[in-house]
Amino acid sequence: MNEGNNAFVVGGKSFTAVAINCAAKAGEWITSKLGNHSSLQTKHSSHDLVTEVDKGAERLIRNLIGTHFPHHSFLGEEGVEPGPEASVQALEEVSDAEYLWIVDPIDGTTNFVHGFPFFCVSIALAYKGEVIVGVIYDPIKDELFVAEKGKGAYVHGKRMRVSSDKTLKDSLIATGLPADQQYALPLNLRGIQQVAPEVRNLRIVGSAALHMAYVAAGRLSGFWEIGLNSWDLAAGALLISESGGTVTDTKGAPYTLSVRNVTATNGHIHDELLQKLAKVEANE
Ligand code: IPD
Ligand code: CA
Ligand code: CA
Repeated sequence: MNEGNNAFVVGGKSFTAVAINCAAKAGEWITSKLGNHSSLQTKHSSHDLVTEVDKGAERLIRNLIGTHFPHHSFLGEEGVEPGPEASVQALEEVSDAEYLWIVDPIDGTTNFVHGFPFFCVSIALAYKGEVIVGVIYDPIKDELFVAEKGKGAYVHGKRMRVSSDKTLKDSLIATGLPADQQYALPLNLRGIQQVAPEVRNLRIVGSAALHMAYVAAGRLSGFWEIGLNSWDLAAGALLISESGGTVTDTKGAPYTLSVRNVTATNGHIHDELLQKLAKVEANE
């Protein structure tokens, strides 16, 4: 940690401990609001929802991180104007940051709003553009997924490994139905039509970050989705690579913070999935 000369830093907590603390506190508060949120607004499209709980959880996380690491940069979904262009620009604006926290306070807001118990808090820390800490917390199951660069990935203290499935036909795969109806949804639907008959089965459960955590834990063998943002992917990408899996964009280029179209697998089925998406041009 390089915070030694900073008089305002509270305590000497590690980055990971702070990320876990933020995720746990936010998760507890979010579940206390389940079925009890008061404002529901739409963002970029009528399918893109936000509540006061998303905003409050992000504020809580930002304040806590700011208390420990006041000189770190912060990129949270709710601090960015809706829509893909603003997301790309917001990431560009922090591209010089040494330490950058990337936060999705609730990934799976539609599920949260409907009381469907599959959503999470996603918190990542990048150092000079590379993710070094990833924490995803599912407050409903009280499952905490944690990864540190070079030190492995764990769920409740137990080391995670990706699945060993070797072919798509033996694999359970997940994807999403993006809110962007103009570009991302039609492409993803084309991919679904191509991939669904080739796999054991397909799941679309409504939280990209939790899908990524499930790939890391070996519960899914792969996930892809078009039109995501850095806050949906950063923590999950580290969880998967530290569990022995592979994360690229949908054309096979290595994962970076600017990836928006993702393919994330156990490694064994990666090329096969990329090829299926490419075959119907569902990859860009
Ligand atoms: C959404 C979820 C969903 C995915 C969407 C994301 P949000 O994030 O991850 O599964 O299909 O593309 O935008 O809006 O709930 O944070
Ligand atoms: Ca999200
Ligand atoms: Ca969100």
